[in-house]
Amino acid sequence: MKKQKTENKVQICIDRDFTISKVDKRIYGSFIEHLGRAVYEGIYQPGNKFADKDGYRKDVIKLIKEIGVPIVRYPGGNFVSAFNWEDSVGPKKNRPRRIELAWGVVETNEFGLDEFMNWCKKVKTEPMYAINLGTRGLEDAKNVVEYCNIKSGTLYSDMRIKNGVKDPYNIKLWCLGNEMDGSWQMGHMTAEEYGRKAGRAGHIMKLVDPTIECVACGSSGLGMETFGNWERTVLENSYDVTDYLSLHTYYGNQKDDTPNFLASSVAMDKFISQVVSICDYVKAIKRSDKTINLSFDEWNVWYHSNEQDKKLEKWVEHPHQLEDIYNFEDALLVGSMLITLLRHADRVKIACLAQLVNVIAPIMTSDTGAWKQTIFYPYMQASVYGRGEVLNTVVKVPTYESEHGDAPFVDSVVVADDENETLTIFAVNKSLEDDFDLTCDLRQYAGYKVVEHSVLTHKDLKAVNTEKNPDNVKPVDNTKATKITKGILTSKLPARSWNVIRLAK
Ligand code: AHR
Repeated sequence: MKKQKTENKVQICIDRDFTISKVDKRIYGSFIEHLGRAVYEGIYQPGNKFADKDGYRKDVIKLIKEIGVPIVRYPGGNFVSAFNWEDSVGPKKNRPRRIELAWGVVETNEFGLDEFMNWCKKVKTEPMYAINLGTRGLEDAKNVVEYCNIKSGTLYSDMRIKNGVKDPYNIKLWCLGNEMDGSWQMGHMTAEEYGRKAGRAGHIMKLVDPTIECVACGSSGLGMETFGNWERTVLENSYDVTDYLSLHTYYGNQKDDTPNFLASSVAMDKFISQVVSICDYVKAIKRSDKTINLSFDEWNVWYHSNEQDKKLEKWVEHPHQLEDIYNFEDALLVGSMLITLLRHADRVKIACLAQLVNVIAPIMTSDTGAWKQTIFYPYMQASVYGRGEVLNTVVKVPTYESEHGDAPFVDSVVVADDENETLTIFAVNKSLEDDFDLTCDLRQYAGYKVVEHSVLTHKDLKAVNTEKNPDNVKPVDNTKATKITKGILTSKLPARSWNVIRLAK
C-alpha cells in the first residue's frame, strides 16, 4: 500500500443545496435464483421448525425485514435461460421435475412463480421478474405478462385465477433475459441478435401491459471482450422499450492482496461511468429525449466457494452451491460498493446484492437456524439509513496506488433526509494500519446532533461469522469518538473499518 501523502486525515465538504440525486430505494434490492439452497432450505422449507403454514422460513423473513429489501430479482440468473414459467404454477402434483442445465442439478418446481409472489407479500418486497430469452422467446414473454398482470377473461389470466390467485400480480419490473453476452449462457447471442430479440420481446410485453418497465442485459462484467460495443448495439436495437440497462460484477481476493481487493470499488465506479457514457451516446445519436438509467442487478464478492463447487455431484436436488463464507474484509468491500452505488444515485436506480440467502448471500440457514454473515451489516445499515438525497461532496483524502487506479484511503458518501431532519455519513477506512481523522463542516445543519456512530472493525481481516459464533463480526458503538463543536464534526475512523455516523435534529 503505497501512500502518496502521509497525513491520516479526511475532510468531507458539504453544501446542503449541492445534491446528486434522491436515492431510489430499489438500489437496496437483492436476488433469489433457483440455485443451490437459495430457494429450497433458504426461503422455503416445509416441515422445518421455522416454517410457516405455507413452508416459508419465518426466521429468514425476519432477517430480510430487518434489512428492508425493497425488490427481489427472481428466478435467475443463469437458471432462467432454460426455464419454463408454466412448470412452476398450478397444482404441485402436476409440476415436472426437470434437468437443470445451468447449475447441473434437478429442479422439482415445487416452488415457483405463485409461491414467490406470495412470499414477496409476506416479506413486503416487490418482485423483479426475469424472462427466459435463452431457449424461449416472444410468445412465452407475452404469456407470462398476461398470466401476471391481466385481470381476467383471457387464457392465461384465467389460468392464474384457476390456480387460486384472483387479483393480478401487477409485476412492474421485468428483466429481458440474463447475461446474454456470456458464452456460458444457454441461448447466448451476439449483441445484434440479442438487441433485436429484447426489443421485440419488450414491445410485445408492453402491448400486454404498457405500465411495465424493462431491463435489458448489459455486459456480464467489465472484463467481457464485447463490453462497450455490446451495450451500444443492444441499445441501438431496443431503445424504445428499454428503461434500464443492466450491469453485473463480482470481486474476489484470490491473490490475498487486501489493498488491491479493497480498491475494486474504483473499478466498479469506472464501470458505472462508462455505461452511463454509452447510454448517453446512444441517446444522442437517436436524438432521443429519453434517458436510459442503470440496473446494477448483480453485485457482490464471490470467490470463496469456487474450488469446492468444482467437486459437486451432478443431478441432485438443491445441493450446497456457491456458499461463500464471507469474512470481515469482504464486508469492507461491500460497504465501499454500496457507497459507490450511492454516489451514482442520479443514474443507478436499481441494484441487487447477489444473492440473498445461502448462495453468495448475507443470510445463511441450517435446519436449526439462520444467521448473519459479515456482509449483512453494511447492506442492512445502508438500506435502513441510506434513504434521502445524496449530497455532492468534495472529499479531501490521500490515495494509494492500486491495480484499478488511485484509490482513496477513505471512501465516503453523505445522505440527507431533510423531511426527517437526518444526515448520515457512510465511510470505509481502507488503511490497514492507520486510523483517520474525519472533519466535516456542518454549520448549515444547525441543531443537528450525533445520534450514533456505528463501527464494523476486527483485528483479523479473515474473521467470519458461523452458526455457532454468529456475533464474531458485528458493529459496535463508537459514538464517543464523534463530536460536533461550533458546527464542525470531528471523528475518528479506525483502521480497516466500515462506519455509519448518524446525525439528527
Ligand atoms: O449469481 C450467480 C450467477 O452469476 C448468476 O446466475 C449469473 O447471472 C451470474 O453469472
